[in-house]
Amino acid sequence: MQTRSFVVSLLAAASLVAAQFRVTVPSTSNWWVARSTNILEWTCREANAPAQFTVLIGNSDQTILVQPLAIIAQQNNFDCSIIITQDQANQAAGQGYQVYLANPLNNTDVYATSEPFEIKPLGSLYPTQQAAAASSAAAAASASAAANSTNNNSNNNNNNSGAFSVRSGVIGGMAAGVVGLVGGMAATLL
Ligand SMILES: *[C@@H]1O[C@H](CO)[C@@H](O)[C@H](O)[C@H]1NC(C)=O
Ligand SMILES: *[C@@H]1O[C@H](CO)[C@@H](O)[C@H](O)[C@H]1NC(C)=O
Ligand SMILES: *[C@@H]1O[C@H](CO)[C@@H](O)[C@H](O)[C@H]1NC(C)=O
Ligand SMILES: *[C@@H]1O[C@H](CO)[C@@H](O)[C@H](O)[C@H]1NC(C)=O
Repeated sequence: MQTRSFVVSLLAAASLVAAQFRVTVPSTSNWWVARSTNILEWTCREANAPAQFTVLIGNSDQTILVQPLAIIAQQNNFDCSIIITQDQANQAAGQGYQVYLANPLNNTDVYATSEPFEIKPLGSLYPTQQAAAASSAAAAASASAAANSTNNNSNNNNNNSGAFSVRSGVIGGMAAGVVGLVGGMAATLL
């Protein structure tokens, strides 16, 4: 019984966190890149999501931005995410930025605030590109290891075991990705 009520209260706490209108991108781990097109994403399906809002960008350092600046006057919630062009937001690279989704009639009435995030200099990789670069580096390393072992193996026999070890490396990586995804979904469901 105690375990059960513990689980129930855990679920209640989790759904309290989930049922909140908030900005998901940008965030501390999902930065923007200066003079580039960037993504803004929010939890549009929450019951308390407003139908429309103004998008503002601010910085905790007033020497960077004196006060939050509106970059989109009226944004429909149902879009769920949008691409912000460099004509809409053209902030210099720096730390401590935050995006605010606010009442269009009163911008100090803020519905949701993003985590502080960084705008990296032009040419920086986005988080997804970094992950791709890291995994292709890992793939290159395992391909090179496989090639070396193929060279050694080829002294003994001339079959495709080298190619096989590259493939199993890739398949292993995909399996790990799926496990991570399922784990993430389970966490979301909780
Ligand atoms: C605007 O919103 C702020 C914060 O909710 C509130 O304190 C203020 O009274 C509002 N101003 C007007 C003119 O409604
Ligand atoms: C493969 O062998 C080459 C030299 O034969 C070496 O430079 C390289 O680091 C090796 N790669 C791995 C992954 O062991
Ligand atoms: C071949 O295998 C030996 C160990 O069996 C290893 O020390 C050597 O580095 C390998 N050669 C290459 C080119 O990887
Ligand atoms: C290929 O290599 C594997 C592992 O080294 C070995 O078990 C297999 O018998 C080889 N096949 C052929 C056709 O040489």
